[in-house]
Amino acid sequence: MFGFPMRVTLDDGRIVLMRPMVEAEMPKVSQQISRYEICKHLSLNGAQSSEQELEWLKRKYTDPSSVGWGVALAESSDDVNGRLIGSSGIEGITNHRGESGVVLWDNRLWGSGIATAIHSARCWYAVNCHHFVAIDSGADQANVGSIRALKRVGYTQTGVDYNRGYANGKICHGVKLLWVNPVEHVWNYFWADSKPPKQFIEGRKRALAALDWASTHVVLL
Ligand SMILES: CC(C)(COP(=O)(O)OP(=O)(O)OC[C@H]1O[C@@H](n2cnc3c(N)ncnc32)[C@H](O)[C@@H]1OP(=O)(O)O)[C@@H](O)C(=O)NCCC(=O)NCCS
Repeated sequence: MFGFPMRVTLDDGRIVLMRPMVEAEMPKVSQQISRYEICKHLSLNGAQSSEQELEWLKRKYTDPSSVGWGVALAESSDDVNGRLIGSSGIEGITNHRGESGVVLWDNRLWGSGIATAIHSARCWYAVNCHHFVAIDSGADQANVGSIRALKRVGYTQTGVDYNRGYANGKICHGVKLLWVNPVEHVWNYFWADSKPPKQFIEGRKRALAALDWASTHVVLL
């Protein structure tokens, strides 16, 4: 499923829209995503046709075990469509838990805080609109920006995923990450009788800060 649309206002004033994608956007998406620089740390092993992207879109609309968004940069404060620059979502949802992923296919925008902001919005949605208990994720160790953006919003490293991928002529080991809903009753439910490891206590502080940030920067449209 696509999630309900949201407007995320970044600290520098840019407005990012998280909203469903539409069929007419798929030819451009296939063109923009079909570059090695964008895909080398993704499970996507080759260029995508518009038909493949269209199939993906149809699955997204109907799959009840996923929630996702197209990510777009708004041109003005009343723009609700914007220019599509990527996608974000959580898949394989069972027992209030799923695995998150993201791609921004306009790499001129990398390093400007968009992933951190949309991850915060996604966590906020997961807590307020979806009752998630936890979100798993993973990233190649070489994908420094990805790991940093996830940790920034409260994901904690749980282990190493050896020989996860291959990029730029090298085997990539991966980092396994987990975000636990920091809201007290959910946090207590998740950890049950066990004491949360120290790194998760730090992760929880970052998760609460991210939710706090989102509460003033994210609006459901
Ligand atoms: C991974 C990705 C989503 C990161 O998005 P982004 O908008 O550039 O991330 P942010 O700007 O929020 O950056 C997060 C942090 O990483 C840092 N960072 C970003 N790219 C970096 C890089 N190449 N090297 C070092 N640090 C980097 C930022 O400075 C920021 O640091 P801070 O928390 O100390 O401020 C984006 O690069 C992307 O779409 N890549 C292609 C697809 C992909 O790899 N997806 C993830 C699969 S696991």
